[in-house]
Amino acid sequence: MIVDFNLNEKDYMVDVPPDMRALDLIRDVLRLTGVKEGCGRGECGACTILVNGKPFNSCLLYAVKLNGKKVLTIEGLAQADGSLHPLQEAFLNEGAVQCGYCTPGMILSAKALLDENPSPEEEEIEEALSGNICRCTGYKKIVTAVKAGAKVMREKV
Ligand code: FES
Ligand code: FES
Repeated sequence: MIVDFNLNEKDYMVDVPPDMRALDLIRDVLRLTGVKEGCGRGECGACTILVNGKPFNSCLLYAVKLNGKKVLTIEGLAQADGSLHPLQEAFLNEGAVQCGYCTPGMILSAKALLDENPSPEEEEIEEALSGNICRCTGYKKIVTAVKAGAKVMREKV
């Protein structure tokens, strides 16, 4: 089946088996390895991608469902000049990255939140990230980083 979609501002037309997961299309076929496989059953959020701006677990999504959609992975988040997105900067500055396995999914979930709500309360950040599991950081630094990234993003507008 043909999937015709936009990934990180680039158009793709790919022939995929009907049962291929979006995770496998992006990671194994298109070689964007920022999207991670953790649990493979919708519980950890490591495979989070944004589809038309909303976070989805790509391990639970058929690749064919991306047809006609606009998809963002962590590779598409840096600015056109190659500089990091404010959320990426904030995660680094606040020590919210350790092994980094959860980080792409965390940042994409945070971006989806901030696109809808540029000034979230701490509880709203925790709620938005509740589907993303981190084994390393204890979450506090991640929430601090999202707040810091949000501040920079607000100041840029
Ligand atoms: Fe998709 Fe864990 S790998 S939610
Ligand atoms: Fe290791 Fe989150 S930084 S899982």
